[in-house]
Amino acid sequence: MHPCEPLTPCRSCPPPEYEKEHTDDTTASVSRVNPAQPGGYVMSGSANAVPSSSAAVTVSKLGYVGFQTMDVARLVDYYTTVLDFVVVESTPERAYLTTGFDHHCIVIEKGENTARSYVGYEVWQDLADAQRRLKQAGYEVERRSDIAPSTPDVVLLNEPNTATPLHLYQAQEHSGVHGYTPLRPTKLGHIAAFAPHLASMQSFYQDLLGFKWSDTIGDFFVFLRCNGDHHAANFMESTKRQGMHHIAYEMRDLNHLQTMLDHLANHNYRLEWGPGRHGAGHNIFTYHYDPDGNLVELFTQIDVIHDEAKGYFEPRPWHNTFPQYPRTWEADIIAANSWGPMNPAMLDH
Ligand SMILES: [Fe+2]
Repeated sequence: MHPCEPLTPCRSCPPPEYEKEHTDDTTASVSRVNPAQPGGYVMSGSANAVPSSSAAVTVSKLGYVGFQTMDVARLVDYYTTVLDFVVVESTPERAYLTTGFDHHCIVIEKGENTARSYVGYEVWQDLADAQRRLKQAGYEVERRSDIAPSTPDVVLLNEPNTATPLHLYQAQEHSGVHGYTPLRPTKLGHIAAFAPHLASMQSFYQDLLGFKWSDTIGDFFVFLRCNGDHHAANFMESTKRQGMHHIAYEMRDLNHLQTMLDHLANHNYRLEWGPGRHGAGHNIFTYHYDPDGNLVELFTQIDVIHDEAKGYFEPRPWHNTFPQYPRTWEADIIAANSWGPMNPAMLDH
């Protein structure tokens, strides 16, 4: 066995077996990390070592999502009264909300009902290094110290295709919120959006930000991960739709989800789709709309990759393929909801 750690292979490491065995899928080929590529870099010998990647930046976590709304009080009331989030700081124009450890994972501010008005991602790199690499890759970046009270140092760049601002930062201050409640989701799980050009969006996230390919449905819906969770960002190709598709929050288990669903019903929020189990990601899902008409997913049991060197998702009895490698799914009921039924509106693009 080579002495290198899986996440910090040296340049003489052989490529992981899955790279050699699963290169027939052309979509998959752009997701492979190859530390031997020109531009690949390794920081080893540190507890905070940056995972080896040829990307300019390596995102480690989806941190927060910004929402603009014409009725801040109404959306904040939904997030606190219905979803049981905690307001950590607020002004008349803006509220920072959290589910737990981080200062915020949702920011709600006055505007024209623009969901996913910006997205914050934690990165492994020193921000000066990230800024330099992004500039070298040809992207316009800006360093800001006034984004939010808990993130005094942020690198900004705009997402290609959508011009959505992306905030890159190293870590947030703690929220002071501890423990859990019967209702509150455990964390912000993922953010899904429409994209006019799927291939270039996928390339941007993988080649520039260090995301890895997890699954694709048909030729129009791609799922990308930045850590062990199956996806933190997913994009549906569309030229007729734009903006956010849905935002998703993780529940601890099915009992937690059921408790929340009864709570939703008590507040007259009815499900639009589910409960069901997705094929891609295998998460048990429900979808409903918030007061602004934004689609909100509550999920549990999403696939995880514990070992990137092996490259497959931790086996689960509800998988149909063993090992469960990233794959391209047929756009059918199995990929969308293995329990049935289908909701065609959810895949409309
Ligand atoms: Fe989702």
